[in-house]
Amino acid sequence: MKGIVFVEFLEMVDEKFGYDVTEEIIKKSDLASGGAYTSIGTYPHGEIVALTKNLSAITNIEADILVKIFGQYLVTRFQTLFPKYFENIDDALTLLENVNDYIHVEVRKLYEDAQLPEISTQRTLDEGLILNYKSARGMGDLAEGMILGAIEIFGAKYELIREDLQEQDNCQCIMFTLKKKAPIN
Ligand code: HEM
Repeated sequence: MKGIVFVEFLEMVDEKFGYDVTEEIIKKSDLASGGAYTSIGTYPHGEIVALTKNLSAITNIEADILVKIFGQYLVTRFQTLFPKYFENIDDALTLLENVNDYIHVEVRKLYEDAQLPEISTQRTLDEGLILNYKSARGMGDLAEGMILGAIEIFGAKYELIREDLQEQDNCQCIMFTLKKKAPIN
């Protein structure tokens, strides 16, 4: 997994739980990298799992909730770090439609060894979107958090429905449905 994800994760922990907690989870996770990440580096996926597990133990917050919170945080950080993907986009559905065929394609040019999920999207007749997620890393909770983060950025309200599908080719498969909520007058 690319270092940028680790750097942002530890920054989120600093910000939301304090520097001491960051230090403690690094120590407890017994990391080959020692927890010294650079954005362009590549590190074992297991390290983010260990860090999350230890953060969960210290904070008493379930690991899946922490990963979703991180996904929400990460998408707002990407907005700051990679503003060009957000330029001229004024709704979450368009942003999400761009992830697979544009954003992650550009990400791969930047980080050749990035391990990215397969995402496909389809608009629904009721102004919503279906997003299918497939990945051997099984980071569906991160995807959920990032989708929620994308929805929040643009303000329009959507209900997010998640359906975990059967594994395919050893990959986690999830169908997310974004359903537009009627505005409250
Ligand atoms: C908006 C700008 C975005 C940028 C710059 C970006 C970039 C990246 C990068 C650098 C990684 C790490 C790859 C690796 O570790 O090797 C990644 C992974 C990932 N991205 Fe994006 N991404 C963006 C938006 C999104 C959005 C909106 C979603 C929502 C579905 C998403 C879903 C994911 C997931 C779930 C992963 C984890 C890898 C996996 O599941 O296999 N990304 N992305």
